[in-house]
Amino acid sequence: MTPSSILVTGGAGFIGCHTVIALAEAGYRPVIFDNFSNSQPKVLEGLRQILGFEVPCYRADCTNRAALLEAMRRERVSGVIHFAAFKAVGESVQKPLLYYSNNLNALLTLLEAMIELDVRDLIFSSSCTVYGQPEQLPVTENSPILPPLSPYGNTKQIGEEILRDVARAGEALRIISLRYFNPIGAHSSGMIGELPLGVPNNLVPYITQTAIGLRAELVVFGNDYPTPDGTCIRDYIHVMDLAEAHVAALRHLEYASIPAAYYDVFNIGTGKGASVLEVIRTFEQATGKIVPYRIGPRRLGDAAAVYADASKAHKHLGWKAHRTLKEALADAWRWQLYLHKTAHLLSASNS
Ligand code: WQD
Repeated sequence: MTPSSILVTGGAGFIGCHTVIALAEAGYRPVIFDNFSNSQPKVLEGLRQILGFEVPCYRADCTNRAALLEAMRRERVSGVIHFAAFKAVGESVQKPLLYYSNNLNALLTLLEAMIELDVRDLIFSSSCTVYGQPEQLPVTENSPILPPLSPYGNTKQIGEEILRDVARAGEALRIISLRYFNPIGAHSSGMIGELPLGVPNNLVPYITQTAIGLRAELVVFGNDYPTPDGTCIRDYIHVMDLAEAHVAALRHLEYASIPAAYYDVFNIGTGKGASVLEVIRTFEQATGKIVPYRIGPRRLGDAAAVYADASKAHKHLGWKAHRTLKEALADAWRWQLYLHKTAHLLSASNS
């Protein structure tokens, strides 16, 4: 039987490339569609080494309808996983128009192309950021959607509303939004992982860069929160667990006799929270490396604690995270070491 081709927009990005692995391992034929604005072509080499074959890749922008139609026609795509979006919270505050224009036009263009070609299954990359600072923990899919903390978060909220309305209008699309908590780690091969541009905003890449000596020390943004050790709590999920959730969602659309014009949302987290200090300690236990850090002021917009109730995904998608925080941090470290080694090789070959 010919494997179903799945278009992965933003498929060269951090979560995208790991989802390409999970799709291939599940018997799908992933096709990458990426403008490489926030990813590097060397990811394709890593994927080739891991999978043993070249993943078809279209270097184009999701706001380019003709390019989307061309790729979907040529690859006979049966479903789409849509990651392609700008995602830096701080940058979105500085450049709101760039974020609204890119993230929303990309989604609208994709939907129009899917409807034109009768491609009906769509998995949308959403975020726990839609919950803001939840009053109740753990967060369920029925927790209130609070005013967005950033234009980036607002593009995720608006994106979900667009999808809900399109499904409600009876367009024969079957759509699932996955609300990610904090994706961390890397594929166990150590050949693909997170490639933050410049100084990492996120905690785990900052920790691995500090541990390898690229950063002098980690600043812990506040230890006066109402949490057991005073530092913020988050639900850190291994990126491969998150990748596998996309396959489970796709299978749900394909095999659970889902009617056309379907829309639903699922939290994708581990259901467990970990504080910043716990992450540092766990990293040190997992790697034997020390992470020099100091306590600094709070970061604007940080919620004290956010972690998921992911039981709905377990019940309906048959999915559950099973990798531990320690495994994720060990995998993140292995990837940082690989970057360090290959960077030396790269500079040696360039000299
Ligand atoms: C985690 C904790 C920081 C860096 C982000 C995005 C969100 C979603 C998930 C996409 C916080 C603390 C961090 C540092 C620190 N992504 N920290 N020192 O903010 O929970 O969520 O990823 O949808 O949209 O904002 O993740 O890794 O930035 O921070 O103390 O140098 O680590 O204060 O408590 P966050 P993060």
